[in-house]
Amino acid sequence: MALVSLLVLLSLRLTPILAQFTVVDLTFDLGEFTPVFPGNPPFNFTILFRGKTGGGGWYELNYFGTTEHAGTHVDAPAHYSKGSWRVHEIPASNLVGPAVVIDVSQKATDNPDYQLSVEDVQAWETTYGRIPHGAVVLVNSGRDSLYPDASLVFGTPTPENVSTFHFPGHQSRGRHIPHKETGCHRCGS
Ligand SMILES: *[C@@H]1O[C@H](CO)[C@@H](O)[C@H](O)[C@H]1NC(C)=O
Ligand SMILES: *[C@@H]1O[C@H](CO)[C@@H](O)[C@H](O)[C@H]1NC(C)=O
Repeated sequence: MALVSLLVLLSLRLTPILAQFTVVDLTFDLGEFTPVFPGNPPFNFTILFRGKTGGGGWYELNYFGTTEHAGTHVDAPAHYSKGSWRVHEIPASNLVGPAVVIDVSQKATDNPDYQLSVEDVQAWETTYGRIPHGAVVLVNSGRDSLYPDASLVFGTPTPENVSTFHFPGHQSRGRHIPHKETGCHRCGS
């Protein structure tokens, strides 16, 4: 009951705050169809129990197992930087902020290997002004429309072969572009 009360209290307090923002659901459905990196185990959803309880009520219990880089997810800095934060070490406040969307979907359609450039960030700022400090910078590559077809998502007729992958990303120095230039904490694509 205490947890339910806390959640109700939180949602009552959050509702007027959230009303000031447009909340966008960026999540993809997860299932055995979810594209995963070659060799990774598939997403596993298993119903452990679904049925009536002795008291005449209803009870459901599911199990799910997944690799961490499947579907919509947070990539911790430790993913590519030894000794850096893992997800549980990222302060929750770093995961909330004004969102900025840099749209490179046309460029990524024309070139499946398109890489976000400094010029893309500068072009956004020329149009909209400085990226706010602490912003969540999201790069829209348009790839969401291809999900969950692994061949389309990975840009290859052989999605089991990493050497044939083609998909948009960041220039190697681009990985740091939004952070260095704007002080944003999180970059997504
Ligand atoms: C999925 O998880 C369930 C529950 O842990 C397990 O029994 C089953 O073997 C798993 N399936 C696969 C394909 O790994
Ligand atoms: C994977 O793709 C590369 C590049 O096309 C090719 O050279 C290699 O033979 C392929 N590997 C397999 C196992 O098919």
